[in-house]
Amino acid sequence: MNKYLILANPGHNRVYFDESINIATSELKAICDANNIEIDNIAHVDVGLPTTLAFSSDRELTMNDFKFLGYFSMYYAMFEIVDVMLLKPIDVPDFHTFPESMVQILKYSGKTNEQFTRLMVNLALSACNTSSNNITLLDPMCGKGTTLYEGFIRGFDVIGVEINEKWANEIETYVIRYLKEGRYKHKASKLKLTDSGSKKIANGFNIIASANKADFKSGNVQKLQLFNCDTRLTNKLIKKKSCDIIVSDLPYGVKHKSKSKETSNKSRSPLELLRDSLPSYHHVLKTKGSIVLSFNEFTMKYDDIAIALDENGFNVLDNPPYIGYLHRVDQSIKRNLIVATKG
Ligand SMILES: C[S@@+](CC[C@H](N)C(=O)[O-])C[C@H]1O[C@@H](n2cnc3c(N)ncnc32)[C@H](O)[C@@H]1O
Repeated sequence: MNKYLILANPGHNRVYFDESINIATSELKAICDANNIEIDNIAHVDVGLPTTLAFSSDRELTMNDFKFLGYFSMYYAMFEIVDVMLLKPIDVPDFHTFPESMVQILKYSGKTNEQFTRLMVNLALSACNTSSNNITLLDPMCGKGTTLYEGFIRGFDVIGVEINEKWANEIETYVIRYLKEGRYKHKASKLKLTDSGSKKIANGFNIIASANKADFKSGNVQKLQLFNCDTRLTNKLIKKKSCDIIVSDLPYGVKHKSKSKETSNKSRSPLELLRDSLPSYHHVLKTKGSIVLSFNEFTMKYDDIAIALDENGFNVLDNPPYIGYLHRVDQSIKRNLIVATKG
């Protein structure tokens, strides 16, 4: 029996310890199930370190296994438990295409927690069965881009839709500055989408980049695309069946009221907005692709979202390890998530 221990990232939620350990355990199971890593006995163990998660495996884990475990949202460092209290560090290489700082630098009110975003991306990947060589991630309400950056550093092509023009512009400025300062080869261009009557649908931009010059020269690039537009028009922006995973932290109905250009004076409920948008999301998602949405249980209920997803042709994954993510963020936000696939 091989025993391992993961030391939690210092940013890991330690306030609600039991909740956070249960959530991390479910995420770890989802990652391992999807990548044929058979593990058992997942539990927090007290070895005189901050938060840890230990587990055992019948076989010795390989570098390929560590690649997936290194993406676990709680991951900070990994050890083999050699003896009861003797920990041997494992040198897990960093498999990101761009530095993690790309997700970490920006701090702003309304930012979705980085670790939680990573968890959602991991669940989406675990549930996704498109077998694509290159993953395309869509965040159809992307805010200032946390999900996009998380997908980008993982090597995916990423697409964002955001109704707030200021935030959309800030994403463009930030990404271009980040790539310039890091001396990464890139090319940026503006996008303007119109309908058949030449009426503007969206402004946006397209960036292609590579972490090294040789890749850029040979066309081995990653794409980051952003549309400043109402999410309900997503099907007009993005090709049918072109996204492998959709990951989004929905408006909480607290600080970030859902906005709609057509009903700018009326505030639509986040659930109403989601119901209106799901046909679009279904249109752009590949068959066997997955969708992970997080939401505030004070303003939207898991069961209502599950019904809406079901009515729009998605299959809700309502068994472990895809359930049990409800946790308290603050007084006004009790966050949950839902995972579904397109059959
Ligand atoms: C919870 S925030 C997402 C935060 C994001 N994950 C981040 O870390 O920056 C939800 C976002 O949905 C956007 N939103 C609300 N209604 C929208 C709509 N109709 N179309 C597109 N985006 C919308 C809001 O402007 C807000 O940026």
